[in-house]
Amino acid sequence: SSYAIGVDIGGTNLKAALVAREDGLLEQTQRPTEARKGPEHVTSQITGLVADLIDLAPSDAVMGVGIGAPGAVNWERTTVSHPPNIDDWESVNLRASLQSRLGRSLPIIVENDANVAALGSAFHGAGRHVDSFIMVTLGTGVGGGIIYQNKIFRGSTGGAGEIGHMTVDYEGPFANTGVGGAIEGYLGQRFLTRHARDRIVNYPDSTVRDLVEGDLEQMSPRTLYDAATQGDEFAQAMLAWAGHKLGCVLGSAVNLLDIRTIVVGGGVSAAGDYILDPARDVLPRFVTPGLRDDLQIHREDLGNEASLLGAARLAFEGKDAQVGTR
Ligand code: BGC
Ligand code: NA
Repeated sequence: SSYAIGVDIGGTNLKAALVAREDGLLEQTQRPTEARKGPEHVTSQITGLVADLIDLAPSDAVMGVGIGAPGAVNWERTTVSHPPNIDDWESVNLRASLQSRLGRSLPIIVENDANVAALGSAFHGAGRHVDSFIMVTLGTGVGGGIIYQNKIFRGSTGGAGEIGHMTVDYEGPFANTGVGGAIEGYLGQRFLTRHARDRIVNYPDSTVRDLVEGDLEQMSPRTLYDAATQGDEFAQAMLAWAGHKLGCVLGSAVNLLDIRTIVVGGGVSAAGDYILDPARDVLPRFVTPGLRDDLQIHREDLGNEASLLGAARLAFEGKDAQVGTR
């Protein structure tokens, strides 16, 4: 069997996995992204994770490394620019710096993190039943990936599918992404909890307060989800609000692409149907009548494995990975 390493650079954690072509994910490691220490430091963290996993595989069996990174990736799949959730990265050639640090010439492909998640879903997850779908990842940032006719759709420079930067309110705040009212400014982890902190004042008895022992700074999407499952009205309303925003932006994406299947992944999607049911409810309202049939929103149950498996797939199949060839 041959092996590949998949890496997922998150705003919060770096994750990496050793994947066998036949047997899937074998080993997984992670550590907090020390973004404040700069890109050189983060690349050395990644190198450490990758080198450790290479050592676990039979010698010379690892055929490449696939890396999912937030931000715009160039057409050559080497360099990531301006990830909104990692400070001070203007443009970083991850391939070059990883290659020189590893001290061996292993093929390395860099790809947008949400595109990689879409590929993982297409090969192994909720996306495997259709040849075209839209992937949305809800995490520190909001990512998007388009699988069109069994391949990643990359646009003209490689950056297509930035759903997180699509606006749901042209008068909305310039939260993070440089785009007014962008969906990431509402659903990105830190923004979602900020909106929740603003609103909880009207719910003095919310279970959320107990879960964070009165310290609302500790509130996370996970807290909202836990409170929602305990029947908390505030948490349910907050997640429904998030779902409505999500349904709105997905409607625009469907109008543009005429792709009717949507897969939602990423950490926040653990809040599952508390977000997705409201999104399903409103979605048709934002889609032109001619495109309303067969709209589907699925949750990606692979969790962050979607990204790791997708990144490894890229290493196995190459940049133009075609899903039908699995
Ligand atoms: C970035 C995307 C990325 C997403 C998820 C957004 O802020 O612009 O490129 O896919 O976050 O990490
Ligand atoms: Na993308």
